Parts: sequence; structure tokens; C-alpha cells
Amino acid sequence: MRPLAHLNKFYWKYRWLFIPGLLCAVGSAIFSLMVPMIVRQAVDNIPIFVRVYAPLSDSSVAESLHGSFFTTLLLYGLIIISLSLFSGVFSFLMRQTIVVASRHIEYDLRNRLYDHIQGMSRRFYIDNSTGDIITRATSDIEQVRRYIGPAIMYLTRALVIVVTAITVMFIISPRLTLFAIIPMPFLAVAVFFVAHLVHKRSDELQKQYSSLTTLVQEALSGIRVVKAYTREEHEAKSFSRESDEYRRRMLDLAAVEAAFRPVFILLIGMSTIIVVWVGGRLAMEGAISIGNIAEYIIYVALMTWPVAAVGFVITMVQRASASMSRLQEILDSEPDVTDGSQTDTSIDRVDGRIRFSDVNFSYKDGQNVLSDIRFELDAGQMLAIVGRTGAGKSTLVSLIPRLMDPTGGTVYIGGKDARTIPIAVLRKAIGYVPQEVFLFNESIDNNIRFGDIEATESTVEAAARNAVLFDNIMELPEKFETMVGERGVTVSGGQKQRTSIARALVRAPEILIFDDALSAVDTDTERRILRNLKTQQGERTLVIVSHRISAVQDADLILVLDDGNVVQRGTHDDLVREEGLYANLYRQQQLEEEIEAIA
Ligand SMILES: Nc1ncnc2c1ncn2[C@@H]1O[C@H](COP(=O)(O)OP(=O)(O)O)[C@@H](O)[C@H]1O
Ligand SMILES: [Mg+2]
Repeated sequence: MRPLAHLNKFYWKYRWLFIPGLLCAVGSAIFSLMVPMIVRQAVDNIPIFVRVYAPLSDSSVAESLHGSFFTTLLLYGLIIISLSLFSGVFSFLMRQTIVVASRHIEYDLRNRLYDHIQGMSRRFYIDNSTGDIITRATSDIEQVRRYIGPAIMYLTRALVIVVTAITVMFIISPRLTLFAIIPMPFLAVAVFFVAHLVHKRSDELQKQYSSLTTLVQEALSGIRVVKAYTREEHEAKSFSRESDEYRRRMLDLAAVEAAFRPVFILLIGMSTIIVVWVGGRLAMEGAISIGNIAEYIIYVALMTWPVAAVGFVITMVQRASASMSRLQEILDSEPDVTDGSQTDTSIDRVDGRIRFSDVNFSYKDGQNVLSDIRFELDAGQMLAIVGRTGAGKSTLVSLIPRLMDPTGGTVYIGGKDARTIPIAVLRKAIGYVPQEVFLFNESIDNNIRFGDIEATESTVEAAARNAVLFDNIMELPEKFETMVGERGVTVSGGQKQRTSIARALVRAPEILIFDDALSAVDTDTERRILRNLKTQQGERTLVIVSHRISAVQDADLILVLDDGNVVQRGTHDDLVREEGLYANLYRQQQLEEEIEAIA
């Protein structure tokens, strides 16, 4: 229950919906509880009428007596209808307030969660899988919403109905009441177990459904691989296996739900039989009237659903509580990279100087992915980082925009400790092209503009020209408005990379980082992009990660990284003269070029 206490502030926020809502719940319950009392009076009128009518049946007043009796019954009928009408109106208002409030809370909660998730740093995304985060944002919030709205509504109504009905019944006849409510606890317990089972099985169903969709999603997005390896039949078989399992679980759930109704009806039936049996004897003794029996039967019927609801509500609360604690886990987690007390808010811009001072980094305790990285760059210089896959190049460059903070040492940007620069200022100064290209399902224009929403058309165009993308765009059906990404036109890996480069260029950053951002373009295009960058470089600092010597040979400083250590450093001319990784790489790539030239 404790995690649900976090919701109290929401109840308070929407108190002007909850308070009237709960009052309506009480009102609706009271009106429906008055119906049995009227029925009792109507029924009790029947023997009175019979007694009065019988001796006078032959006389002249018989007809008017008959008429007035029916008028009386009609009146009772009208009262019952109006009471039900009032109860219905209140029940409508109760839903309109409480369910609406629960939707508001769901909305608030979801927005808060999303804001929070967006604010989390990279480490959070390394620790939590996307699927897990999405589940929390969807089904966990839904569980909590169900608790906020329906659970509270049912519980209030149930409480009012059960307490009032039992009190009234007790006043009429304690003995009959005790007998009549014997099946009730069984009902509550039975419903609790059934609800538990229903929830457990729907969870299993849900899980199976996700694994089914994952399977389909993989098979469809990997359709080229599936076809190339002629694995269609295999894929179809795994689908029907998963699908079979889904059907089985669906039937399991249907069986529980089907069993629920008969049990429910059986228990109500038992109550009714007991009332008629015991009540009939009491009526014969003159302890109660026949009308009381009718009243009791309606009370018992009125109580069954609320009692059953309590069983449901208990499992709802349990689930909501578990969901809320999962949500709270995210909401309570603090991003490890934030503006904090060390931030110097007077800094509003930084230049392109970069200095790493004995920087260490580890993803997990103990294993250093970067060890004692040390270098210094002036604004307008070019740094190149080369090294094998897994050497730590991507990790190193991601420390510059503070996607993560070093576990040891300090990164200085523009001469200041990066941790003292407001994050927005730091990132505004940096154009970062990550190793994995990501394009949104948007037009090319919007994808480039993502780097700077306020960029003018000519800036976007210039960025596209510098990324050697402009001519390609002009060949597309709708030019800059062409949709790319999963739902748009298919663009090549190289075009995607260049879109991603244009996105970084449009920011006109002080520091431009290419994390292997030229891997999918040919050497000729690479040369043109680098030449464009060079001619417009000015004070802009370039950091280029590449495995191609051709891309890095003009750098002011080249770092050769191996297993997180800088094993060689210098300019191209220095490094080709040294025996080592760089010279090996250089010779190998020269050989490749010569072979290509001959062929
Ligand atoms: N998210 C991560 N969690 C744990 N280890 C990681 C993660 N990302 C990278 N690593 C490890 O850090 C090392 C350096 O990776 P990376 O910086 O991507 O190298 P490079 O870019 O040079 O290929 C590798 O050993 C890799 O396995
Ligand atoms: Mg990398």
C-alpha cells in the first residue's frame, strides 16, 4: 500500500472532483437502498387490501375500492421508478467526476514520467531496456489509473450499501439478517480468488502477446535476412508455435471468466433461498411481514455486486501498488548528469577549446574503458581518434557533450570544467554525429532542422550542401519535404549518415564531433565533406573518429587508442615514421588503394 501514498498529492489536486464524486456515490447508494423499503410497503398493502376487499366484494363500493387500490400500487411504482432514476443520475455524476479525475491523474502521471525519462542521462538508458520503460509508461500507469478511479468508486459505494443495508436489515430482524448474509463472505473470498486468477492469467496472456509481437516485428524488419537465408518456413513455424501458446492462454482466461458467473449466481441464489426459507417461518410466527421478505431479497441482491467488487478491488489495489512502486522507481531516480550546485549559471557560451586531464571511465565498477586520457586542443584545431573496434573511441567522444561524466579526471571545454557549464550551453556549442545514425519519421528538412529548430531555409540548404547531400535531395520526389525514416522513402546508409551530419552542421557548433560518421560514404565523398569542413572551419574544433587514415591525416593531433589507452600520439607525419598500430594501418590502407587502382 505504501507506494500508493505517492498519489495523495493528486487526490488533493483534484479534490474538487473527488469530493463531489464521493458524495454522489453516497447519494446513489442511498437512493437505491430506499427502493426495497417502498417494495415492502407495497407488498404489505396486499394482504390488507385482501382483508378489506373480501367481505365487501359483492357490495357497490367494490369497484371504487379496487380502483383506489390500483392507484396506490401505481403510486408505489412511480416512487420506485423515481428513486431508481435519482440513483442513476447520481451514479452518472459519480462516474463523470471520479473517472474524469482519474483520467486527469493518468495524464499528469504520464507527462511527469515522460518528462523525467527525457531528462535522464545515457547511463539510465544503458541500465534500462526500452521495452521495460515503455511497459512502465503504458500498462503500469493503466493499473494505477484503475485503482484511482474505479477502485475508489466501487469501494465507497460498496461500503455505503453494505453498512446501510445490514443496519436496516438488522433493525427488522437480527436473526434473518445473520442467515441472509452467511453466503456473503464466501462470495467475497471466491471473487478475490477468481479476480486473482483472472489477473494472473491476463498477465500471462499479455506477456505472450508481447513475445508474439516481438517475433513478428523482428521477422518483418529482418525480412531481407529471412528471405536471403530462405528461413520463411522456419519463421512461419515459430510464429504458429507462439500463436498456439497465445490461443491456449486466451482459452485459460476464458475458462476462469466463464466459471465466475455461475459461482456468482449460485451464491446469490443461496442467499435468496435462505431468506425465503427462514423468512417464511418468521413471517408465520408473525415476527416479520411478508413485505419484509421481499425487502430482504432485494437487499441481498443489492449487496452482492458491492461485496463481489471488494474482492476485485483488493487485487486491483495490490496490482496498482506494485505498478506504482515500479513507476516511483523511475521517478525517484536522478539523472547522473544534471545542472546542480556546481553549475556556474553566469556562463552563457563556450568556445571550442577541449582539454582532457587524466580522464578515466568505466561502465561497470572496476573495468576501465578509458585510462588516463590526456590531451589539449585549441579552438579551431582538429583532433582525430583511431583505433580498433572496442578501443573506447565512442566512449571518449561522448564525454565531450557530457552524455556521461568521467569516473575520474576532468574534461575542460572552453577552458572550464565541463561540469560547471550549464548543460544547455554546453550542448548548444556541440554538433555531435553519433556512430548509429537515427532518422525520425519526418521530412528530410525536419530531420536536419532537428539540430536547430530555428534554422532558416538557407541555413538548412547550406548544411545539406556541406554534407554533400544537396544533389541527392534534389533527386528525391519531394526534395526537402520527402519523408524519410521507417515510413518514408528508403535512403542509403550513406545518405542517412550525411543527413545526420547536416543535422550537426546546421547548429553552426563550436565543436563538431564525428563518431565514425563517414564510415558509410565512399572515399571521394568523404574527401569532399572534409574539404567543406576545412574551408569553413575558422574557430570550430573538429573531433573525428575514423578507421580510415585518409580522413585523419590532416589532423593537428592524432590519438591512437587501444584498449582504453592512448598508445600513440602525434601528427600523421610523426606517426607514419613510428613503428606501431598507426603505421600498420597506414601501410595496409595504402596497399588496398593501390590494388583498387590497378583493378
Ligand atoms: N553500454 C555499455 N555498457 C558496458 N560496456 C560498454 C558499453 N558500451 C561500450 N562498452 C564497452 O566499452 C568498450 C569501448 O567501447 P566503445 O567506446 O564503443 O569503442 P569503439 O567506439 O572504439 O568501438 C568496449 O569494450 C565495449 O564493450
Ligand atoms: Mg564506436
